[in-house]
Amino acid sequence: MHPRTTGPRTTSDVLVVGGGIIGLVTAWRATQRGLRVAVVDPEPGGGAARVAAGMLAAVTELHYGEETLLGLNLLSACRYPDFVAELQEAAGGADVGYRACGTLAVALDADDRAHLRELHALQQRSGLESEWLTGRECRRLEPMLAPGVRGGLRVDGDHQVDPRRLAAALVAACERSGVLVHRTGAERLVVAGDRAAGVVLEDGTELAAGQVVLAAGSLSGRLGGVPAEAVAPVRPVKGQVLRLSVPRAYAPFLSRTVRAVVRGSQVYLVPRENGELVVGATSEELGWDTTVTAGGVYELLRDAHELVPGITELPLTETRAGLRPGSPDNAPLLGPTVLPGLHLATGHYRNGVLLTPVTGDVMATVLTTGELPEEARAFTPARFRSPSPSTSSSLSPAGVS
Ligand code: GLY
Repeated sequence: MHPRTTGPRTTSDVLVVGGGIIGLVTAWRATQRGLRVAVVDPEPGGGAARVAAGMLAAVTELHYGEETLLGLNLLSACRYPDFVAELQEAAGGADVGYRACGTLAVALDADDRAHLRELHALQQRSGLESEWLTGRECRRLEPMLAPGVRGGLRVDGDHQVDPRRLAAALVAACERSGVLVHRTGAERLVVAGDRAAGVVLEDGTELAAGQVVLAAGSLSGRLGGVPAEAVAPVRPVKGQVLRLSVPRAYAPFLSRTVRAVVRGSQVYLVPRENGELVVGATSEELGWDTTVTAGGVYELLRDAHELVPGITELPLTETRAGLRPGSPDNAPLLGPTVLPGLHLATGHYRNGVLLTPVTGDVMATVLTTGELPEEARAFTPARFRSPSPSTSSSLSPAGVS
């Protein structure tokens, strides 16, 4: 049974469900366009950004069949420097740890080398900048690499940001620009007259809004009261991540992100300027499980050790698991749903941190004009709609608890 609702308490133009980096950037950009915005989240600035390494890896994480997504990823990567400068100022001078350090993707054996050669060919066909290096050239760039490294790809345009500091800056920018942040959970969507009209919070309070954005990462499909046809098709994809610390005496341990595919699994090492070294990540389809397992930690350390043997000397400071919001085609869901007034900003899967700047811009345009900008049209949630046209009168609630 629902807690008793108390009738609408506050009214905003836009109510964002989810205060992770995607929800926060949507709120911040919308408020800059003159909209009155509220965010609902029990822990704003938390979510997957607490776990993510923060690679901005449009080129090194290129996959076959994801050329459309590549365009959006590159656009967002391009916007990052200006976005960071503007956000840091709006957040009162916070530093989000943006580091234009580049990435080196390396191969440890003949199979890895063949895989990397394929990736290089795909990058070249896509007009991307990357340079093939011999093992010796890789080690000259990064002396801590294992002697067995057989070759690599130098990608000087794939940078990094610290997602925790990014999230904290977005919370500050939102609050300083007048976004109302409700530190509680959303229980269900309110639908009135066949349009989204607000949400009921866990304590029964109802918040009314002209438009609602579901930006709750992998949880975006779980809000009660959303008509079945408008439910976000997202699933959780678990990633376990380790944090180590590089003592001053060892610095610089690595000067750029180093990554590889070892025995078919991705491993990456992301060195921060403050001495933190992030090692990620597993990719596990295990539902809502966020347990850090001995096996996950073992595999990450084993693979990272093969790349950079000296890693075992470093203090291990944190282990954590998070959930990527996976969509059916691994690309984000941006913009209006079949239910008028209800939008999605979710499904960013491996690219949430990278796509933060462009998502904020796209969602602000959608919320002020009702239209997706050209660069985001391919990411409409409508691409997963069944061919038979649904009408608003056929909408039926799903997930109402
Ligand atoms: N983009 C890195 C990851 O999802 O693990």
